[in-house]
Amino acid sequence: MSSVAVTSPEKVEETAPAKINLALHVTGQRSDGYHLLDSLVTFAEDGDELTFAPAEVDSLTLSGRFGSVLALDPAGQDGNLVLRARDLLRSVLDETGQSHAPVAITLDKNLPIASGIGGGSADAAATLRGLMRLWQATLAEDALQAIALKLGADVPMCLASRPLRARGIGEALERIALPSFPIVLVNPMLPVSTPEIFRQLPRKDNPAIGSLPDTAGADDWFAALSALRNDLQPPAEALVPEIAEACDYLRQSLAGFVRMSGSGATCFGLYDSEPAALRAALALSSFRPDWYVLLTHTIAGEPG
Ligand code: C5P
Repeated sequence: MSSVAVTSPEKVEETAPAKINLALHVTGQRSDGYHLLDSLVTFAEDGDELTFAPAEVDSLTLSGRFGSVLALDPAGQDGNLVLRARDLLRSVLDETGQSHAPVAITLDKNLPIASGIGGGSADAAATLRGLMRLWQATLAEDALQAIALKLGADVPMCLASRPLRARGIGEALERIALPSFPIVLVNPMLPVSTPEIFRQLPRKDNPAIGSLPDTAGADDWFAALSALRNDLQPPAEALVPEIAEACDYLRQSLAGFVRMSGSGATCFGLYDSEPAALRAALALSSFRPDWYVLLTHTIAGEPG
């Protein structure tokens, strides 16, 4: 009888794609203070890049446009989420008798920090996916989702990284059909505190999202999304007026649909063609060279 030796991968790579809330309705509040949401979420093709490799000792190395910002951040929120994800996964693997050798993690931080597009949550989710592969661990999907939720309300959706309708506090997930769109992300480079924006909400019992379009047509989607809201946008604009300015620029650039993502301050425009999105990105970068501007695409989704 022959046996097959199972060897661990040398190095594992994961992308932590930017999360975009196409709509975000706040429909209630739990007794623990967390808000109940009804949100349409999609993901960009671009994001942070992480690698995981076997090592003598654990480490985390930061690089990329926002790596030094993260390293200097006293709270170190996003970086810490990578380490918290690693440590929490380890403790669960300990309970199930699975091994988890020391690991060298690199985080190429391309996404702005505290910016409403996932950032730290996407990094935490990518860490769970990457380490599960590196350590060749086995966990039931709901066990991994539970670890994700302990790390943050947005981490379960980032673990899936596909178009979703998210309810509950963000953990009740349903895959949705959604076409891919050219998208331009704009951030005025002002960090926004999510708890602060939630605190400033005038109402916490807004109507839920109704039925979604059953179409691949961009114009139908733009019309349907325009009838929806991001309930966090008015309080965010009150705190950071540059958010309204960024949305105005995007509207002038002939985007088919413009909104703020999450609790801000990143705003986005969806376009019906690649040249229109490219023109918008170039114009925005030259108007505001001090702002973050990214041209990318959202990924398409299927229900199921
Ligand atoms: O879960 P996470 O740590 O990402 O959330 C950050 C903060 O955002 C929470 O402490 C809470 O104040 C607020 N939040 C909320 N309701 C949600 C998600 C986040 O009130 N559904």
